[in-house]
Amino acid sequence: MDHIIVEGGAPLHGSVEVSGAKNAALPILFSTLLAPGNHRFTNVPHLKDVSSTLALLKGFNTESTLENHTAVLECKEPSNFEAHYDLVRKMRASVLCLGPLVARYGFARVSLPGGCAIGARPINLHLDALEKMGATIKIEQGYVEAKCKKLTGSVISFDTVTVTGTENIMMAASLAQGTTVLENAAKEPEIVNLANYLNTMGAKIKGAGNSIVTIDGVNNLRPAQISIIPDRIEAGTLLIAGAITGGEVNVKGFDPVLIKALIQKMHEVGFQIKPLTNNSGVHLSSLKEWVSTDVTTAPFPGFATDLQAQFMALMCVARGTSIISETIFENRFMHVQELQRLGADISPKTRIAVVRGKPQGLTGAPVMATDLRASASLVLAGLAAKGKTKINRIYHLDRGYEELEIKLQSLGAKILRGHS
Ligand code: EPU
Repeated sequence: MDHIIVEGGAPLHGSVEVSGAKNAALPILFSTLLAPGNHRFTNVPHLKDVSSTLALLKGFNTESTLENHTAVLECKEPSNFEAHYDLVRKMRASVLCLGPLVARYGFARVSLPGGCAIGARPINLHLDALEKMGATIKIEQGYVEAKCKKLTGSVISFDTVTVTGTENIMMAASLAQGTTVLENAAKEPEIVNLANYLNTMGAKIKGAGNSIVTIDGVNNLRPAQISIIPDRIEAGTLLIAGAITGGEVNVKGFDPVLIKALIQKMHEVGFQIKPLTNNSGVHLSSLKEWVSTDVTTAPFPGFATDLQAQFMALMCVARGTSIISETIFENRFMHVQELQRLGADISPKTRIAVVRGKPQGLTGAPVMATDLRASASLVLAGLAAKGKTKINRIYHLDRGYEELEIKLQSLGAKILRGHS
């Protein structure tokens, strides 16, 4: 199993480019199930979750290649309509095959994802919406079976803002009969990327990126091509890496507006962040010390839950006390115990953590990654700690960051991948 060893203390300097967004690539890859033929995507990140998605799609008779960030998928009629537990439990986004399969073939059998390190993460809102559109839903032996003759458009009002729920239903509604209106839809930029692809395929979606999305169903979609948007969460992670080491870095190739909430907080605590020309990234310069601030996670455009663990690492070495509130997932503080192993002073309650910053720094120790963003926060804390930090179980990191250690090396970090 791979691990990462970080030797902290080196301020990062230089420029780094962000890769394509995992959370945009996955729904777009699943959307190929809606239209037969050759789909082509550029800026696809080379990630474990992407290869897991391509493996799942192969089970639905979609052959694919992924070379130099270009993926070509040939979608043919499947003879199997089942997403097996082994794949779904490893990657919850697998549930994104449900909407397209039911809409196009009138049947899908998808394993329930089960629990997750960061929370229960049910899919009831996806299922309620499909039921409202005329599907019959049966849950048996750990699988959801959805059936229908033809989905019909409906008004779906989500009780909670759900990202993959909005994506699943937007895909299903594209091939439904009549108009679907999604209320309280998620507004994440990854949803806009998906809607743009669906529209290029011939769908009629209006309002993606707002809380009300209207989809006029069409009879057929055709394959097309699109570029995956840059990964705003990776951009934020790299920015915090520069900051936590007191460095000066350019993080390039993304629109800073997409992490406005993070940039505002970083300004507030004392970092200087300026947009690069054409808004194609930012320049960060640091002070020796920064102060603490409070953060509450929220759906886009609020402070992303996917950046909470990384920002907590930054607050662990700030001057003052920070209160971090997690409102999206009920168990997203798994990194706290590991950060404490590095000497961080954090008191976690269920959804609130009080971080008493230690500007004098943390001390390296062996730690264990528990989920994707927790792994990233441990890498960041390791960059700021004195001595060596060994991060075990970094397969979590490989699910969602493309060669993070190589990007950090290019900025001067002492970080190596090892095998034990
Ligand atoms: N929820 C329900 N019922 C549902 C769906 C969601 O109660 O049917 C709840 C969830 O339990 C959670 C909240 O609603 O408390 C929001 O969950 P959401 O559905 O928005 O999360 P998701 O779609 O499963 C995506 C990202 C996550 C990211 C969240 C929130 C993908 C593939 N995953 O998950 O990304 O944290 O939105 O922004 O897009 C990550 O990349 O590390 C990651 C976990």
